[in-house]
Amino acid sequence: MQIFRDLNALRGGLAGLRAGGARIAMVPTMGALHAGHMKLVEEAQARADHVIVSIFVNPTQFGPNEDLSAYPRQEAQDADLLRAAGVAALWAPTVEVMYPAGFATSIRVSGLSEELDGAHRPGHFDGVATVVSKLFNQVRPDMACFGEKDYQQLAIIRRLVADLDLGVEIVGVPTVRDSDGLALSSRNAYLSQEERARALALPHALNDARFALENGADSKATLANVVEVIRAAGFESVDYVELRDSATLRRLESLDRPARLLAAAKIGKTRLIDNIAVNR
Ligand code: PAF
Repeated sequence: MQIFRDLNALRGGLAGLRAGGARIAMVPTMGALHAGHMKLVEEAQARADHVIVSIFVNPTQFGPNEDLSAYPRQEAQDADLLRAAGVAALWAPTVEVMYPAGFATSIRVSGLSEELDGAHRPGHFDGVATVVSKLFNQVRPDMACFGEKDYQQLAIIRRLVADLDLGVEIVGVPTVRDSDGLALSSRNAYLSQEERARALALPHALNDARFALENGADSKATLANVVEVIRAAGFESVDYVELRDSATLRRLESLDRPARLLAAAKIGKTRLIDNIAVNR
């Protein structure tokens, strides 16, 4: 596996990989790779001739009181995993390469970025949209895989690619869960054993709510019940539990179209997000 840290080396390496019209798939990550990321790699490999993974802990998507400095960094271990999986190249730029002195551009996907996670993490999705635009311009992949775990992020990236004519096919990959139902996330590493056990209330409550909604239960009462159940299980604060249109992310009062139930809540110091499809 080739590892690139600057743009000239990346462009040279990519020209070699593209020879003969080979199709390139990209998996953008912030590292601390787990089975969820490796599923994205697997899906990318099934669709392209070569896969390039990026690892970049993007400072502009972290708020001032968030976990940028504590975010898990384990590049050597990540590189071993990717090499063993047959990934062709790793793009691991430094902050100076990504944001050279004088960098002044920010991309905002209006309408999709302000609510849900955006309301609780101001500027977060501008940071994501900007870095993903840069990653796509740097690598120019034919397609890219993103997890449905970050459902709002996936919707924003689809909009961004369409609006800016980036010409990258976006593939959303279903969330990978531990056998007990907890969605895999690099931030699960912050959970104590006891918090992890209590955190299971989130996927279980979402699944119960999905069942209730699909069987005609009132959406307002069902969402309120999810909040009550996860609070009782030990989540100290609940940022949101909402039913949204699965494509536009507009709020839904009733289940009259394909929908997504999305939630974010804090257990101890760790903020978890999860979401699930809900279809009549
Ligand atoms: O989902 C992530 O890991 C990040 O938000 C992404 C898409 C790599 C952008 O930094």
